[in-house]
Amino acid sequence: MFGNFTYCNPTKLYFGEDALNGLNTELPKYGKNVVLIYGGGSIKKNGIYDEVIKILKDNGKNVAEISGVMPNPTVDKLYGGVETARRHKADLLLAVGGGSVCDYAKAVSVSVNCDEDPWEKYYTRFEEPACETLPVGCVLTMVGTGSEMNAGAVITNPHTHQKIGHVFADEKIMPRFAILNPQYALTLPHYQMAAGIYDIFNHICEQYFSGEDDNVSDYISEGLMRSVIHAGRIANKDPQNYEARSNLMWAATWALNTLVSRGKSTDWMVHMLGQSVGAYTNATHGMTLAAVSLPYYRHILPFGVQKFKRFAVYVWDVNTAGKSDEQIAKEGLAAMESWMKELGLVMNISELGATPEMIEGIAGGTLIMNGGYKVLDHDEIVDILKESLA
Ligand code: NZQ
Ligand code: ZN
Repeated sequence: MFGNFTYCNPTKLYFGEDALNGLNTELPKYGKNVVLIYGGGSIKKNGIYDEVIKILKDNGKNVAEISGVMPNPTVDKLYGGVETARRHKADLLLAVGGGSVCDYAKAVSVSVNCDEDPWEKYYTRFEEPACETLPVGCVLTMVGTGSEMNAGAVITNPHTHQKIGHVFADEKIMPRFAILNPQYALTLPHYQMAAGIYDIFNHICEQYFSGEDDNVSDYISEGLMRSVIHAGRIANKDPQNYEARSNLMWAATWALNTLVSRGKSTDWMVHMLGQSVGAYTNATHGMTLAAVSLPYYRHILPFGVQKFKRFAVYVWDVNTAGKSDEQIAKEGLAAMESWMKELGLVMNISELGATPEMIEGIAGGTLIMNGGYKVLDHDEIVDILKESLA
């Protein structure tokens, strides 16, 4: 275990079939002006909108709405939402949706009382808010990002082809509360469910594949990964399986609520590659990760053989008899690949709309992190992206 750290996670969770009742406990803590934020309409089709509105009205709230928050929310949509929240003198931002809606609410929260351009301040200069922020609450309907219990907010700027995540330092930006009812995710299309499963798994990988020290976080990560593999298989065959879907929801929250990164440097290069692919293609987040993962991990494996071997043995139960460390490590990735294919994930970026002509731009937009087993240079990024095309 190395490194000094602080750990604080103030998000209060309400989990299970009755979780929405938690809104009745939470809403009285805030003023009467609530901005309800949601996406393209799934919550109207599946009835969650009506349930939430009723509870808001029963609690005497004065509600304004920001609808149409798109997957991979854009900076232009952010500007519009900030205006709505200002006009409504919002006391609480209530996000009802997936990671896009939760992230967007956090981005509005840090921008409402800020005179500067939020894209410049938070996504170009990576500054922290110097103004009063608004509390965010979240009713989660899509499982994967962990946004319900973290301070991350990813915003896309389509004008500059940039998709940038800012993980805010202040835990006040984390949702004050999150409602986690696994039933709400049961109406997700299979494509989104599978993308979310891989997003969870990769969040754990991003934190696991770093460092060589003995760290309790890695043991927790191995347990979480085993659960995601197991529940993912069940949910893939039987999407309405409540037990599997609830395990996935709970694992997603723990995969990215900062716990398993404590004391570690962390990698995050799959996300940096995937986000840049997303900036060019507007593809589904989890699928962008799936499409670049194997070329990336095969590229860095020689620099982290011992960890990839451990991953093979403890996560994938690879039999080690008579094999070299490198063979075992490679078999771990092969096992991951067959699980990914079983889930029906997109395994190349061409299928997501990326073309050979885009590769230089995508590589240029990929932020280079230095916490993993190999700090990539531009040419390596280009090579990995080219391999991801097929
Ligand atoms: O917009 P609606 O109509 O609601 O449809 C959504 C959307 O089309 C649909 N959906 C959500 N819940 C549903 C449903 N459809 C039917 N039934 C339901 N119950 O699913 C689609 C995808 O939703 P979205 O919120 O975009 O998905 P996700 O949760 O994967 O969020 C993706 C965003 O989160 C960012 C990503 O980059 C991306 O912008 N991330 C945020 C992170 C964080 N805060 O820490 C970390 C992640 O790595 C990720 O980068
Ligand atoms: Zn992710």
